[in-house]
Formats: sequence, structure tokens, C-alpha cells
Amino acid sequence: MSEKTVTITDNATGKQADMPVRGGTHGPELIDIRSLHSELGYFTYDPGFSSTGSCQSDITYIDGEQGVLLYRGYPIEQLAEQSSFLEVARLLIHGELPNKKELEEFEESITRHTMVNESLRIFFNGFHYNAHPMAMLTGVVGSLSAFYHDTIDINDPENRLLCAHRIIAKMPTIAAAAFKHMVGEPFVHPLNRLSYTGNLLNMLFARPSEEFEINPVAERALDQLLILHADHEQNASTSTVRLAASTGTNPFAAMASGCAALWGPAHGGANEAVLNMLAEIGTVDQVPKFIEKAKDKNDPFRLMGFGHRVYKNYDPRATIIRKTCHEVLDELGVANDPQLELAMRLEEIALADDYFVERKLYPNVDFYSGIIYRALGIPTEFFTVLFAIGRTPGWVAQWMELLEDPEQRIGRPRQIYTGAAKRDYVPLHRRG
Ligand code: CMC
Repeated sequence: MSEKTVTITDNATGKQADMPVRGGTHGPELIDIRSLHSELGYFTYDPGFSSTGSCQSDITYIDGEQGVLLYRGYPIEQLAEQSSFLEVARLLIHGELPNKKELEEFEESITRHTMVNESLRIFFNGFHYNAHPMAMLTGVVGSLSAFYHDTIDINDPENRLLCAHRIIAKMPTIAAAAFKHMVGEPFVHPLNRLSYTGNLLNMLFARPSEEFEINPVAERALDQLLILHADHEQNASTSTVRLAASTGTNPFAAMASGCAALWGPAHGGANEAVLNMLAEIGTVDQVPKFIEKAKDKNDPFRLMGFGHRVYKNYDPRATIIRKTCHEVLDELGVANDPQLELAMRLEEIALADDYFVERKLYPNVDFYSGIIYRALGIPTEFFTVLFAIGRTPGWVAQWMELLEDPEQRIGRPRQIYTGAAKRDYVPLHRRG
């Protein structure tokens, strides 16, 4: 722990307290305020936790000002270009790039765990035909805890690793089952000879009546999207997983809480919201009108896919995905997609507009990912499910790190109580 301290003075009483300052490999230093209440009698107030560190982590580093994203020290650009999703998943979990044998063993283990219990699969029959796939995913991922509960020992590192492999392996199978339920087609079982992403595409699009050929450009683009989504330090869904896991809950239940948090339009649901927004805007000539709506404080409309809590510069994931987006559209023969044209025009106008420039509102990863998913033939409601598959190794790695961190305790924020002062119960017959 560093020797550096910050002195906090209570101007009302003149009392002072020295708080230690903690720093990491990169990034700003944080004041460790754990003794603030015992020394000065105060807690801190920080809705949205935008100034609060909840843990120390070795996994992911973001520099929002510079637009930097590192997984275990490796720049996202290099991983997106040269690695595979499963290699990245193993990197996030273990901390180092695997050698050939380690990677093969990891891939083999994930492949062996892709099947789900048949009783779990028939849960889908209980969902209405138009159930949102994120609702199904959240419910069924949580239900995995019913299949793996008594046998789980979260204090055993080997057992934790087994849980990690199981969840990474089963997410695509559950996601694809939700997809097939949604489109009213028969469930497709995992095929172990395929890659992780190839298998996902096959489970989504194969039909008993016809051959399905996996397009390598689609397979690579989807794999890259999963890499880009694999972790993003203490975002809302990851913090939710950590908070749930801090109680010692079943890991599959904790993962389901991550899915629930991811679903919202301010987080993983934004990719779906982008496409809905583009449909609402309709044509290029309508863009200026919607830009004005986004700037109007009295109008709830926001430009979906713009802005980020952490990136106050171009989202590095958006830079990579923008390029891939064009490659996919060229390959799949949809280069003149009117929605892409609309998206480009929107990006161009917003980037030149003072309102967006002053607030550093740049396109984020969801701005382009939705367009790629659309080109791959994936329905809008399913976009966030793909984000969840990508984010699973991050959730799992953060869950494992939390359990190994002796400083972690049950997560329990404070509040400022602004309700009624203490008062006595009035019996019903005496109330006016
Ligand atoms: N359109 C118009 N104005 C915006 C937008 C937007 N998309 N985003 C922020 N602003 C304005 C906001 O009104 C505020 O203006 P003012 O200072 O005049 O009051 C200022 O910019 C700061 O906004 P904020 O809400 O305080 O910023 P935040 O850090 O709390 O919110 C955000 C970040 C991502 C929730 C927000 O930018 C947003 O709602 N964006 C649209 C949804 C979206 O694309 N979400 C995906 C995030 S990336 C994927 C992920 O990692 O989950």
C-alpha cells in the first residue's frame, strides 16, 4: 500500500483524517475512504458510482480520455485483429496468453460442455412465442443454478474453473434455443467439430430441411464482436454480477443478474435501440430533425449508440467495428444498405455538431454492432443476447477474481435517508 495520503478536514469541527491513496499499474489514484466513517463520522455520496472504485482488478484497463482498452495488458486492437474469442476468454480467466497445448485443452473443455440438460431445454416450451430473448436468456441462465447447485463449491478453485467453462460453453446453446423459440423453428444441438462462433451460427441458422454453410466472413466478424464485448471493467452488468456474487450466491444465478442488468437500453440494450432509432429516423433527410430532438432537454429522445460513461473520446471498439462493418456489408452484398448510409450521415452530422463535440459524445461500440448483426440476418431483439455471450468470459473472470480477493466483502452501499422523520403508527379508525 502506498505511503501517500490525502488529509480530509471537517470544516465544522476542525477534525482531520489522513486517508491513504492507492494507485495501480495505469490510471488515476484513488483515495481509500474505508476509515472515513470511523474517523470523521461521514459516508460518501456518489449516485451511479462514477467517482467510486469498488475493487482492485488485474483484468481490464480503460483510459476513457485516450480511448484505450486493454485486456490483461493487451490492446483491444491487437486482440481483435489477431486473436480468437476463446483465446481471449482464456486470457481473461487465467491472466496470460495460453500456449498451443493450453489453448487446445481450453477449447476442448468448452466444446465438451456445450450441451444442456434436456429438462433445461424444455423450459423454453413454457415461454410465449413472442417472449423477448433477453427475458428467456435471463430466466434460463438463472435456471442453470437448479442443475448445478449442491455440486458447486465456490471456495474450490478447480470447481470455480469448471463453473466458468460450463457457463461460457452453454451460453450460445441457451441463446440459440431462445432464438429458435422466437422464430418458431426446431432447436439445433451443438456440433463439436465447429468453432465456438461457427457452432453459434449453426445453432442459430441451421434447419433440418436444408444444408447450412457457415460464411467465414460472418464467422470471423461475429467472433471479433464477441472479443470486443468480452470485458469492460466495472460496467453496470459486471458490477451487478460482482454485487450478487459478493453474497456467495450460486454463480449461474449471479450470471443471470448480469444478463438482467445488461438488457437495459443504457447498457447492452443500446445496440437494439440503435436499430430502432434508425428505423424511427427513416430517411437521411430526417437526420437534422432528430439531431435537434437529441439536443432538446425537454425531449426524452437521445441519440442511441452515442456517448459513454467512461469514453470521452472515440470508443476504440467502435473504430475496429466500423471497419469490420464495411467488410461484412461488402462481403454479404448489402453494401448499399440504406440504414448504413443513414448511420454514416448521423455519425457525420453529430461529430461536427457543437452539442456533441462539447460533451464529447462519440459513437460507441453499439452504434456499429447492430448494423453488422442486421447484415448477418439476426433480428433486432436478439442483439443484446449476442452481447451477453460476448460479455460472459468477463463476468466469469470478474466473479473468480472477486472470490479470490481477501478485501472483498458483501456489497452494501449507503444512502441519504430523506423520508419521514420517526413517527408513531396511527390506527386505521383514527386516520382522516
Ligand atoms: N444523446 C444526446 N445527448 C446525450 C447523449 C445522447 N446519446 N448522451 C449524453 N448526452 C448528454 C446529456 O444530456 C448530458 O447533457 P447536459 O450536460 O447538457 O445535461 C451530457 O451529454 C452528459 O450525459 P450523461 O447522461 O451525464 O452521461 P452519462 O455518462 O451518465 O451517460 C450514457 C452515458 C451511455 C448512458 C449516455 O451517453 C446515453 O444514454 N447514451 C445512449 C445510450 C447508449 O448508446 N448506451 C450504450 C453505452 S456503450 C455500451 C456499453 O458499454 O454498455
